[in-house]
Amino acid sequence: MPVGVFDSGLGGLCALKELHKLLPDTELVYFGDTGRTPYGTRSPQTIMKYASQDAAFLMSRGVSAILVACGTVSTVALNALKISLPVPVYGVVSAASREAACFTKNGKIGVMGTGATIGSGVFEHELKLINGELEVTSVACPLLVPVVEYGFAEDEIAYLSVKKYLDPIIDAGADTVILGCTHFPILKNMMIKAAPHITFIDSGAAAAREIASAFSDGEGNGAIHCYVSDTPANFNKTAKVFLGEDFDFDVERVDIEKY
Ligand code: DGL
Repeated sequence: MPVGVFDSGLGGLCALKELHKLLPDTELVYFGDTGRTPYGTRSPQTIMKYASQDAAFLMSRGVSAILVACGTVSTVALNALKISLPVPVYGVVSAASREAACFTKNGKIGVMGTGATIGSGVFEHELKLINGELEVTSVACPLLVPVVEYGFAEDEIAYLSVKKYLDPIIDAGADTVILGCTHFPILKNMMIKAAPHITFIDSGAAAAREIASAFSDGEGNGAIHCYVSDTPANFNKTAKVFLGEDFDFDVERVDIEKY
């Protein structure tokens, strides 16, 4: 049975790529809500509604587990999804927090995420549960999702935005930063340029490693089916940035409001 992955847009593709690397024979079904992205500026009620529609669509494709490859949904709606769905549901918070707590040498961790994610305080709470001594600096980064979705990841504007959001984290002395939004790994070159001494944790990839360790590889052909709520043409173009030119997938539009 396939594993389902979803995000508000393209960010979850980094998690999908990692999952495909670790479970190469497992069929994967990806849904990117490109017609309604971004989620991070919306109310918890709206995020909840979108997330349950996204999950309902994946369930209709017969998935055996769901990876919520979206920091915003993972911090705002994960428990509701876990309660309502009959399959295991994984978010990005616990895996990324564990990796960060393991990597930090000085106990100072930064968290970058959308407004909704940082407002929820969920990463900070999880990190403190792992180790109450950790010092956490959280920064909401609302400009970064549009920078990625519009294809400016390698532009000067990306560097300036990343630098602005990283400054308070650098000032706080963090040696490890959780990229709590799955769009942000696409900006990793800029992050490293702005703060070469910091270790950046890709929360989507961390979650993919968690789910891969819980499942044995499927016996399928490792096919990847992508669905989006906006036109597939735009998705195709930008997905190559996330996945690389050689990655093979098919993509179709879905009317998500029907779910
Ligand atoms: N990838 C989503 C996340 O991880 C992007 C958020 C958004 O749509 O605003 O939070």
